[in-house]
Amino acid sequence: MKLKIREDYLPFSRPSIGEAEISRVVNCLKSGWITTGALAKEFEDKLCALTSAKHAIALNSATAGMHVTLEALNIREGDEILTPSLTFASTVNMIALRGATPVFVDVDYGTLNINPKLIEEKITSRTKAIIPVHFAGAPADMDKILELAGKYNLTVIEDAAHAVGTYYKGISAGGFGNIAIFSFHPIKNITTGEGGMITLSDTLLENKMRLLRFHGIERDAWKRYGKGGNPAYDIAQPGYKYNLPDLLAALGLAQYERWPELNERRCRLAKLYNEGLQGLTGIDLPQSPDYDHIHAWHLYIIKVLSLNRNEFMNKLGEYNIGYGLHFPPAHCLAYVREKYPTQSGALGETERAADKIISLPLFPDMQDDDVQYVCEAIKEIVKYA
Ligand SMILES: Cc1ncc(COP(=O)(O)O)c(C=O)c1O
Repeated sequence: MKLKIREDYLPFSRPSIGEAEISRVVNCLKSGWITTGALAKEFEDKLCALTSAKHAIALNSATAGMHVTLEALNIREGDEILTPSLTFASTVNMIALRGATPVFVDVDYGTLNINPKLIEEKITSRTKAIIPVHFAGAPADMDKILELAGKYNLTVIEDAAHAVGTYYKGISAGGFGNIAIFSFHPIKNITTGEGGMITLSDTLLENKMRLLRFHGIERDAWKRYGKGGNPAYDIAQPGYKYNLPDLLAALGLAQYERWPELNERRCRLAKLYNEGLQGLTGIDLPQSPDYDHIHAWHLYIIKVLSLNRNEFMNKLGEYNIGYGLHFPPAHCLAYVREKYPTQSGALGETERAADKIISLPLFPDMQDDDVQYVCEAIKEIVKYA
């Protein structure tokens, strides 16, 4: 090893929290109202402005958003939902918990986004929805997906967990008139600690989702306990407890103000990785889609070819570098394999990528020379493999 090992650990991700975030959260704490109220509403309005969607519903996770969405759409046993297997398990969990069947569509090896050419052959009379993921912050090919959805009368649910600041042909993720679900988990482009947001334009569906979000009660707590509110309630159907508290929305609002700056930084770091790793044999760099888009660079994922990925991870650890894995394919998870067996080789490109992918450190407060250090470490690891 020639590179001097850094003394401090470079994590895979770390939220960028500054004075603005701290002061908004402190103000909320001092305000006397910390659960869902005016700040959650303000945060919802921001997401409407970002996406041009008519409605936004703040929740305590994107997973909760998926649960509420599938239930509001009345997805149930016998229904089939198309999704890439290369996604977070939460999507498949929610499909399974509704009693429906996930049907996996292969991805493009370069971008890791769903391959739209392979969607149509998976559509049957039982198919109800498609859930494309804007993978790593690069948009899925929405024109093709929306065309198929129109042809077969399917609902499109964009998994926009990675996609605050993702644009497809000038349109923001969540801006296509269908349902989209964003995540504000701590590693995401903007965070609320934990949190999520559904955006959509269908008002009937929005009403159902709001009821499901909060016990089935029509009026949120702040409408019942705020000045002039009436604490009485009735419940026409049962619901969950998935609301986003104002304490977290306060953090989200401060983060939202900064998303262009935070994404610009991510973009710069991704460019530095591209330059630093360019031409290196033994790894494949992430490919960007060939259509017009803006990449939010949520993740920078390389594929390791010249040595075993676990060995590569261990080596990165020796250099004091963190890493992530996005994702172990869902069709390979124990219960999924058992409940929804997939023919071996049917998801060829997903499987080709699966044991090679690794997410390198990428977060806005990371310094340019951190990227340089990671690139030098990777060069040494690959050279001595
Ligand atoms: C692609 C994808 N979908 C959904 C989720 C779920 O988000 P949350 O943790 O907010 O429930 C994640 C989170 O990692 C994700 O990466």
